[in-house]
Amino acid sequence: MQDALKPPHHIAVIMDGNGRWAQARGLPRGLGHRAGAQAVRRIVEACCEVGVKVLTLYAFSWENRDRPPAEIRELMGLLEEFIRRETPTLLANQVRLRMIGRLEELPADVVDSLRRVMERTAHGERMTLVLALGYGGRQEIVDVARRLAEQVRRGLVQPEQIDEAAFAQQLYAPDLPDPDLLIRTSGEQRLSNFLLWQSSYTELYVTPKLWPDFTKDDLLDAIAEYERRERRFGRVAARG
Ligand code: IPE
Ligand code: IPE
Ligand code: MG
Repeated sequence: MQDALKPPHHIAVIMDGNGRWAQARGLPRGLGHRAGAQAVRRIVEACCEVGVKVLTLYAFSWENRDRPPAEIRELMGLLEEFIRRETPTLLANQVRLRMIGRLEELPADVVDSLRRVMERTAHGERMTLVLALGYGGRQEIVDVARRLAEQVRRGLVQPEQIDEAAFAQQLYAPDLPDPDLLIRTSGEQRLSNFLLWQSSYTELYVTPKLWPDFTKDDLLDAIAEYERRERRFGRVAARG
């Protein structure tokens, strides 16, 4: 039954709880991240199956750069390993890989290997998988402001020409639609600096499940809940 649902076009996920998942098992945090990578695999596949067109995953935030260096190294290593191992599946499933964030702040070798996979998967038309890396919503807004200021300084744009559309044109992935549904695992009820501009009318869904435990059924539950919501965008409710 659930498979017949019309899925949201764009789902964004704050994949949280890897550390607590490991801690609950007396394991090092790194093993929680490793289990989290398995969940990524499951959810990418499930999103493809149900017809989601864009999946944005918050993989490493701007503020996560303040974690201990050993944990960051581990996360970066896992990311590279994951993407290397998953490239054939991405290609087979016609999934296009993209990235948003201040990539210049990340290890160059990791970014280079991700860029190669982006090039190889550029023709994927079934789904776009966006990894948010070194990403912060405020940092993105600051970067947009800088670009617009530079255009004004060069006389290419007049200040009064800056409207929502002009601003959105300078986002990291300006061609992508705003997320329809934002899922956060591990029960935390906050955005943690994710997609601040883009999520102004996104439906929020928080589940207590820790990210490594998140399954396709959990995804379908989130989609079913989304389908029951009424998105009003500030207007009055539709009657009927
Ligand atoms: C999410 O899990 C993964 C990243 C932030 C990279 P956490 O590492 O934040 O796990 P908790 O919140 O400590 O359980
Ligand atoms: C948000 O999780 C970032 C990612 C999932 C990549 P955090 O664990 O960093 O967020 P806080 O610190 O609980 O707000
Ligand atoms: Mg966390």
